[in-house]
Amino acid sequence: MVVLTRSGYSNAPQSQLDRMVAMVQARHPALLVLGAWVDQAAPSLPEALSACAAAGAQRVLVLPIFLPTDANLHTWLAKVIRRWQEGHTSVAVTLGESLVETPALAEALNQAVAQASTAPDLRESPPTNWEHDPAGWSHIPAHQQHVLLCRGPRCNALGAGALAAHLAGCLTAHGLRGGDERVLVAQTGCLYPCNLGPVLVVYPAGVWYGGLDEAAISQIVTQHFIDGEVVEAHARLVPAPDTTRSPA
Ligand code: FES
Repeated sequence: MVVLTRSGYSNAPQSQLDRMVAMVQARHPALLVLGAWVDQAAPSLPEALSACAAAGAQRVLVLPIFLPTDANLHTWLAKVIRRWQEGHTSVAVTLGESLVETPALAEALNQAVAQASTAPDLRESPPTNWEHDPAGWSHIPAHQQHVLLCRGPRCNALGAGALAAHLAGCLTAHGLRGGDERVLVAQTGCLYPCNLGPVLVVYPAGVWYGGLDEAAISQIVTQHFIDGEVVEAHARLVPAPDTTRSPA
C-alpha cells in the first residue's frame, strides 16, 4: 500500500507522514505500507510503486490522504499510475478516492473542533522571544546564478527528487554552494511546461532545461555554471539576444 500526500514546500513534514504510515501499518501488519509524496519530496509515487514491486507486490493500493483534492490532480495520478504500469504489467494498482469521500471525515472534523475549542488563547503563555524574526530572513544570499529546480507533481514523478540530491552533490564537489561563485538553488512548484520535465531554469541566462537526468545535471554544472556555455542537448528555451537596446 502507498500512503500518498502532498508537501507544498521543500521541508516536507516527513515525520508526520511516517506516523500516518505507521498507523495504517498497525492496522494491516501483513501488508507492506510505504509513504510517498506528490510534490517537493521523495519518494515520488512511481518510486514508491517500484519499491512495492521490488518487494514482490502484485497488487498495490494507492491511498491519497491529502485535503482538499483537486479533481485534475486525481485524474493525473491515475495517468501516472497507468504509465508506471506500462513497465510493470504484472502489478495491479488501485487508486483510492479522496478523503473527502470518506464518511468518517465528518466525525474526525468534529473531534478536531471539540479539541480546538478547549485549547487556550495563543496569548496565554507565549514562548520567549516569539516576535523575533531571524536576521537571515532579511538577507539575500550572494550568488552568481539562480537555479529554479521544479519539484511540482509531474517533475517529481519524473525523478526530480533524485536530481535535486545529485545537483546538490555536484555543486558541493565544484565548490559552488557558497562564496562569490555561489549557485543559489530554489526548489519550486510547477513551472508549467510539465511535458518537458524534469525542468530546471537558470538565471540570469534565462535558459530553460528539460528532459534532465543525472548526466545532464552534471554537464550543466560544469559546462553552463562554470564555463558559461549552454548545454544545447537539454536546452528547451534560450532567450534571443536583446537587439533593441543601444550600447550604453
Ligand atoms: S511539474 Fe515541473 S513543469 Fe510542471
